[in-house]
Amino acid sequence: MAGYFITLEGGEGAGKSTALGTIREWLQAQGKDFVLTREPGGTPPAERIRELLLDPDTGELAPLTELLLMFAARNENLERVIRPALAAGKIVISDRFTDASMAYQGAGRGLGRDPVERLTDLVHSDLLPDLTLLLDVPVEIGLKRISTRSEGPDRFEQTRPEFLERVRQGYLEQARRDPQRFAIIDAKAGLESVGEAIRTVLEERLK
Ligand code: TMP
Repeated sequence: MAGYFITLEGGEGAGKSTALGTIREWLQAQGKDFVLTREPGGTPPAERIRELLLDPDTGELAPLTELLLMFAARNENLERVIRPALAAGKIVISDRFTDASMAYQGAGRGLGRDPVERLTDLVHSDLLPDLTLLLDVPVEIGLKRISTRSEGPDRFEQTRPEFLERVRQGYLEQARRDPQRFAIIDAKAGLESVGEAIRTVLEERLK
């Protein structure tokens, strides 16, 4: 039996952690067998690539270097976690995936679609998410949310509002290109209604 691949996306401060909790509780309540992973990361070597990418001490990277590192980590996650779990018939939830590369490196860093599409072809031409939940929130609201966190900002959270606006538009463009796969969740709403919207989508797609 083929599994089911869900990805969760959104800009900074969109509320992904809360949304992940909602998804996890819903799947547990349904008795579904699932695997949770994240990008960049998901395996020990990929988590080391994540540290390099998120650490402010890394400083600036050429945008293509950043993209290649994202895909290097992704290939590990795919080979070791995502593909085996899907082959075993499980549901896989990835906290970010290739749409994040299109939004952050393609749109945000200005690389455009072409290098992201070429790497997508190389690394996972055969595999796309079945469902992508996009938590959409205006940049100023997201920035306000992350400003209240206790830990300091990572390399991406340090970026300017103009960058984050390009990221947001990059995600929305991805959703326009693939409306069947995407469910856009209005994440500026309160926690309760965001949770409700996520549960509704899961019920429609997975029951
Ligand atoms: P997060 O755990 O808060 O989602 O942090 C991961 C960061 O990495 C986030 O700022 C988005 C960024 N990112 C990219 O720029 N490109 C990618 O392909 C992925 C997966 C993440």
